[in-house]
Amino acid sequence: MYNNILTVTEHHIQTITINRESKLNALNIETLQEIKQAVSAAQNDTEVKGIIITGSGSKAFAAGADISEFVNFNEEQGRKMSADGHAVMNTIEQSSKPVIAAVNGFALGGGCELAMACHLRIASENAKFGQPEVNLGVPPGYGGTQRLIQLVGKGKAMELLLSADAISANEALEYRLVNDVVPIEDLLPRCFEILNKLKTKSPMAIAKVIRCVNDHFDHSKNGFETEINEFGHAFGTNDFKEGTDAFLNKRKPNF
Ligand code: COA
Repeated sequence: MYNNILTVTEHHIQTITINRESKLNALNIETLQEIKQAVSAAQNDTEVKGIIITGSGSKAFAAGADISEFVNFNEEQGRKMSADGHAVMNTIEQSSKPVIAAVNGFALGGGCELAMACHLRIASENAKFGQPEVNLGVPPGYGGTQRLIQLVGKGKAMELLLSADAISANEALEYRLVNDVVPIEDLLPRCFEILNKLKTKSPMAIAKVIRCVNDHFDHSKNGFETEINEFGHAFGTNDFKEGTDAFLNKRKPNF
């Protein structure tokens, strides 16, 4: 079904694996579109309650956009490449189901941007993060200049973006670019552990939290207003009835 990614759903968790190991999982345009398609399809798949995005092998999550593909692009093609990439990242960020980046190695350029578009990032100890685009004569183009600020703050983001320096997984943890660092053999089990926990929560409430948090960063929205609306809307749902009834009757909710 896909040429560049593998998708497997087990225990209600879909794992999307970028499958271009010999190219360090570099994100060519087709790969990005396939990731977008898979994440979009998962939104309507009632079997799927959470998503993991990772890279094949133990060297790279994704070593960036595929340089060999865009090397001869003109301005118009460059703009389209960026706009289309933004649409992919937005689809991930706005997923109503939680998305975790299991960063199993290099997350450079577009790879770092892909990880940042996910709701959570768990890194293996060998992972490396960076935005090396200035070495190639471009700024980041898949949202990196914006999401890096959101995660690590302006000062550190500016330093990483201007220097093109790659940082280790532990430095990424220190700067809050990632949520946790684990040995590589524990990477997928840790992501499953997190999503297994999240899938016991109300999927409706999880989707609302994601929307409220995202709206904080959307200049056309007011996150506080979103929260008031989403909170109110929840009261009309079965999940709310189930969650509150379970609490009052001292039982586990079944969403
Ligand atoms: N685009 C296209 N191909 C890439 C790539 C990218 N972003 N990153 C790695 N590759 C390819 C290499 O060209 C090489 O292909 P080949 O075997 O056909 O020559 C293969 O993946 C292995 O990479 P290689 O550079 O030989 O591995 P390495 O261990 O020596 O170095 C990196 C690893 C990550 C340091 C190095 O590949 C690199 O700097 N990649 C580009 C990172 C980057 O600038 N990303 C931002 C892009 S916008």
